[in-house]
Amino acid sequence: MYHLTVIADDRANTDVLRKQLAGIFDIETETVEEAIRSSPGAATVFDINLSDEPSLLKLKSWLGRKPANAKVIFLADRTSHLQHARAYALGATDVLHRPIDGRELLARLWGDVTSLSSDPANAAIRKSPAVASAIDTLQNIFSSACLGEPLDAKSIDSAGDNVVGHVETHGLTAWIDTVRTHHSATYQHCLLVTGLAVAFGQQIRVSRADRQRLSFAGMLHDIGKARIPLAILEKPGRLDDDEMAVMKKHAQYGFDALATAPGLPTEMLDMVVHHHEYLDGSGYPHGIGASEISDLVRMITIADVFGALIERRSYKPPLSGLAAYNVLLDMGPKLDKDLVRAFEPVASLGRNQASG
Ligand SMILES: [Fe+2]
Ligand SMILES: [Fe+2]
Repeated sequence: MYHLTVIADDRANTDVLRKQLAGIFDIETETVEEAIRSSPGAATVFDINLSDEPSLLKLKSWLGRKPANAKVIFLADRTSHLQHARAYALGATDVLHRPIDGRELLARLWGDVTSLSSDPANAAIRKSPAVASAIDTLQNIFSSACLGEPLDAKSIDSAGDNVVGHVETHGLTAWIDTVRTHHSATYQHCLLVTGLAVAFGQQIRVSRADRQRLSFAGMLHDIGKARIPLAILEKPGRLDDDEMAVMKKHAQYGFDALATAPGLPTEMLDMVVHHHEYLDGSGYPHGIGASEISDLVRMITIADVFGALIERRSYKPPLSGLAAYNVLLDMGPKLDKDLVRAFEPVASLGRNQASG
């Protein structure tokens, strides 16, 4: 259940809202007077009387101080043009009509959860139990992350274990072949990175425990994307600077989602929050350097960059394995040279599928 503070001024309306959002949101309310004592946050939801002129004036100046990209959602009656106009004049980024649909509110706050979590996978994917179980797990962890629910570490562990078994039995090529047919770019990416990371671990003969860690991290590394709006996440084209700044938050969001999960080892959190860090300190979110980046993180980063390059997207053809590997080489001091060299045979396996 996701905890939500709503700025509200009518107890009867709030009781109705609570019923409408039951099962998804746990609602707490505060008055306008209470809310404006602190600064506006990243997301604010209003269920207030939009004809109360004096309090609206105070609100307008308060909302003028909201952070860039903050979401301000007003609940309004469908038929009232006046309420709409006032809400947008005050600084609303969205207006939702009563009765409020919890899933829709969640989507406006954190991206389109339903289209991420109820993704009908195709027949080829469903035919492979290891792939199907990895997708089910991904759907569950993305939904849980969106809803602020604790993640089920056990099911992630067992799906991770299945991926290790599948890649080791059938090879990376079969894995790539299957997961690249998934139409959600985000899931396709996570599954590709998982297969690549496991094959990489197998290639350089890390322990079975480490291969499982890599599998687990491959699935989880982009979990923070559950909180990035779908319009940015699955945009069919390059992101502009503002969109990229939002996208980059996914590493920290991922850490935040996992930090509440009981019993997750610190190396998992490390791989999730640091998979976009580079050895020369030019990565994000913390700009840490080589001495603070573990071998497992270095491996996930290589699998992540390579996976993104060979993905099939609607707006760009996938790079061949060879071309993608050359991009890794061109990244020079950002990546671990020895590990990039060791990744070459894995990249060759990817090449056969990427050119198809
Ligand atoms: Fe990422
Ligand atoms: Fe990624």
